[in-house]
Amino acid sequence: MTGSRNDWFPSPIWHFTIADYQSLNETLLQEIYAEQQRDRQGEKWSNVLGWHSVNDLHKRDRFQGFTKIIEANVLEVANFMQWDLQKFTFNITTCWAIINGKFASNSVHSHPNSILSGVYYLKAPENCGGIFFNDPRPASQMLIPPVVEFNLWTHPKISYKPHEGTMLLFPSWLLHGVDMNMSEEVRIAISFNIGMSPIKS
Ligand SMILES: [Fe+2]
Repeated sequence: MTGSRNDWFPSPIWHFTIADYQSLNETLLQEIYAEQQRDRQGEKWSNVLGWHSVNDLHKRDRFQGFTKIIEANVLEVANFMQWDLQKFTFNITTCWAIINGKFASNSVHSHPNSILSGVYYLKAPENCGGIFFNDPRPASQMLIPPVVEFNLWTHPKISYKPHEGTMLLFPSWLLHGVDMNMSEEVRIAISFNIGMSPIKS
């Protein structure tokens, strides 16, 4: 006799490959490099050694094609999640760029006051640092039996290798960080948050 199983409370991470990303990335990089020239100091958030831009890049003219892509991907997530878009609208609340040179990383964090967060890769050389997500169930780490091989139910942490032209979307509460860039080249990514506004009836 074998038992049956239900898997509740999954933590989804979506990934999208953006078509014709090379020309999109060129436009986005122009804006990011110009912004880095303007604001050499940058902002201090989760970044360790790296440069972090201001968080309103989604309002820039050169970002308008990119924000449309974000919105289309978020709509796909919303449909999958069966969110009731008669009752609320989603919008990009913040959007920023991060440039991580050699040895730069991002410490573990989540994104408060948002429903979804995402990252998109513009420059992702080999060994530039993957994004990792921690198991969001702290109690699951209380006593961990040895395993022959980690699987969907036992991974304490998973990593995604960044690929240029790829976008990840994930729940904003999911703790994550970025490994140290061990490449001689820079790693450049854009991150963003999605918020919600109720529709008044
Ligand atoms: Fe983040």
